[in-house]
Amino acid sequence: MNETIKILQSLRSIRKFSDKKISKKDLEIIINSSIRAANASSRQNYSIIVVDEKEILDQMFYGANIGLVFCVDFNRLIDTAKHLNYDYDPKNIRLFITGSIDTCLAAQTAAIAAKSLGIDSIFTNSVHRAKMEDVYKHFNLPEKYCFPLIALGLGYAKEEPEWKKGRLSGPGIIHTNKYQKLSSEELDQLVKDYDDQELKLGAPAAGLSEMGFERYLDWFFTKWNRPFPEEKINELYDILRKAMFLVEK
Ligand SMILES: Cc1cc2nc3c(=O)[nH]c(=O)nc-3n(C[C@H](O)[C@H](O)[C@H](O)COP(=O)(O)O)c2cc1C
Repeated sequence: MNETIKILQSLRSIRKFSDKKISKKDLEIIINSSIRAANASSRQNYSIIVVDEKEILDQMFYGANIGLVFCVDFNRLIDTAKHLNYDYDPKNIRLFITGSIDTCLAAQTAAIAAKSLGIDSIFTNSVHRAKMEDVYKHFNLPEKYCFPLIALGLGYAKEEPEWKKGRLSGPGIIHTNKYQKLSSEELDQLVKDYDDQELKLGAPAAGLSEMGFERYLDWFFTKWNRPFPEEKINELYDILRKAMFLVEK
């Protein structure tokens, strides 16, 4: 394995960070690498808010040393167009999708760059769990054409997680040339894979058997996968409508 592959395969989320600070130089390298990610039409339709306020880091970033909020954002481009006396209207779903891809690629690239410097990370959608109006207010985000897509906490691990989560691979994940739905036998295997002790796809912190479940997916579909509260879903629709990303044709 070369160094890059080793780094990619060593990625895992960290939820407990030490007090060790990320140096300015390392942060600069992480951000400069993040923005090297591919982006559609050289638009870089994102903004990255760098957070170093302890209270917010504790609230939204699992106590990481630095937080990065990656926002899909068209404001810079709209303002540039205005500056040049052009009309630029990004009010369409295709641009929101493309902008979201730019944003995610930049975010994942930041996590990889960080890991290559020995800095750990956690992705979180805490920005959506919080009252979104407050998130916009706190970070001074423009209401229109800007949406906080994902947050990334960066820091040094306080301790290693007990186990590293595995990943599904093979049928159902990788399709050659054409999409293929899983057969009943393959689905049986997938259910077993979730409980495979070596694969380690997932286990609730409290332990399955203590909670009266035989299989991980029984717990997942009945306990973990609760429906989101209706008001949070409506809030997201409202925010996306306000941001002009969700407009009827
Ligand atoms: C969009 C997204 C949102 C996530 N939100 C959270 C979160 O709010 N809290 C958390 O502890 N982990 C969060 N994670 C991290 C995942 O739980 C983690 O990546 C997954 O369980 C796999 O574990 P690993 O990263 O250690 O391999 C998120 C990851 C993604 C991609």
